[in-house]
Amino acid sequence: MTQLNEKSPVATGTGPAATKQGKDAPTAVLIGVTGGLGHALAKLLAADGFRLVLAARRENDAAKLTGRNDGSAIYQRADVTDPASMEKLAAVAFEHLGRVDAVVNLAGISPRKAIEEYTLADIDDLFAINVKGPMFVTRAFLPGLRKQAGNAVVVHVGGAMDGRVALPFMSSYAASRGALASYVQSANRELAGTNVMLSFFGPVPSNTEAESPFFDMWSKLGVDLCEPDQVAREILATIRKRRQVHVMGGGTLKMLTIANAISPSIADAMGLRKFGKLMQQYRPR
Ligand SMILES: NC(=O)c1ccc[n+]([C@@H]2O[C@H](COP(=O)([O-])OP(=O)(O)OC[C@H]3O[C@@H](n4cnc5c(N)ncnc54)[C@H](OP(=O)(O)O)[C@@H]3O)[C@@H](O)[C@H]2O)c1
Repeated sequence: MTQLNEKSPVATGTGPAATKQGKDAPTAVLIGVTGGLGHALAKLLAADGFRLVLAARRENDAAKLTGRNDGSAIYQRADVTDPASMEKLAAVAFEHLGRVDAVVNLAGISPRKAIEEYTLADIDDLFAINVKGPMFVTRAFLPGLRKQAGNAVVVHVGGAMDGRVALPFMSSYAASRGALASYVQSANRELAGTNVMLSFFGPVPSNTEAESPFFDMWSKLGVDLCEPDQVAREILATIRKRRQVHVMGGGTLKMLTIANAISPSIADAMGLRKFGKLMQQYRPR
C-alpha cells in the first residue's frame, strides 16, 4: 500500500477550511461536477478548505456549486471525450492552483439494457465517455503531476464494486467499467515508485437524479440507496488514504467482490446468481 504523502496538504487534512489557507490549502480538479455525486463532492471539498477547479460540459457557476464565493473555486467547461479540451483543463488547473493534489473524474453514463437492445450509439458513447474519457483525463494531467513536488492521485469513478463484477442487463456498460479497472491497474503498476497514482472508486447505488430510473428496481431487490454526501466522504477518504481501489458497501459486497476476482463461479454460488435472477425479474427499463 502506498504511504500517505507527508508533504501534501491533502494527506494531513482532517478538518474544515479554517485550518488551511491560501497556497497551503489542498487542491483538486473535479470533472462531472454538475451531477449528483460531483456536486456533493464539490460542496464537501469546498467546506474542507480545498481550492478547486470544477468542470463538466454544460455552463455552470463555481460559487453556486460550492456555496463559497471567495474565489477559491473556478468553473471551466470541459469534455472528457475531447483530448484538446482535457489539455486545456489541465493547463487552466495548473495555472490557477499551482499544484494539483487530486483529480476526480466523475463523468460517466450507465445505460442498462438487454444485450441486443444496446444501440451502436449507446456503445460508442459508453466507450467514448467511460473508457477513452479516463484515458484522456489521465494523459492530460500526468505530465504536470509528475513534474510537481508532492504526491497526487487521479480518482476515476467507475460502477459499483471493483469494475470486474459484471451484473446482467448491463453487458456493454459492465464492459466499459471493466476496461477502466484494467486501465487503472496497469497504470498503477507502471507508476509504482512515482509521485502519482490512479484510483478506481466504485460507488453503491445512490440517491441521484441519474440513478432515479433504477430506484424502483433497487428497492425491489432490497438494496438501500446511499446519500451523495456519504459517497463524497468516501471519495475524500480514498484521496487521503491513497487507495488504488475502493469498493463502497458493506462486508457482503466486499466479500462478493473478492470472491468474483478469484472466481466468478464462487461469487455466483455466494449470491450473485440469485441477484442476477432477481434482476432478470425486475430488469431496468
Ligand atoms: N449515482 C449512482 O448511483 C452511481 C452508482 C455507481 C456509479 N455511478 C457513477 O458515478 C458517476 C457520477 O454519478 P452521478 O449519479 O452523479 O451521475 P450524473 O448525475 O449523470 O453526473 C454525471 C456528470 O458527468 C458530466 N459529464 C457527462 N459526460 C461528460 C463528458 N463527456 N465530459 C465531461 N463531463 C461529462 C455531467 O455533466 P454535463 O452533462 O454537463 O457534462 C455530470 O456533471 C457516473 O460515472 C456514474 O455512472 C453512479
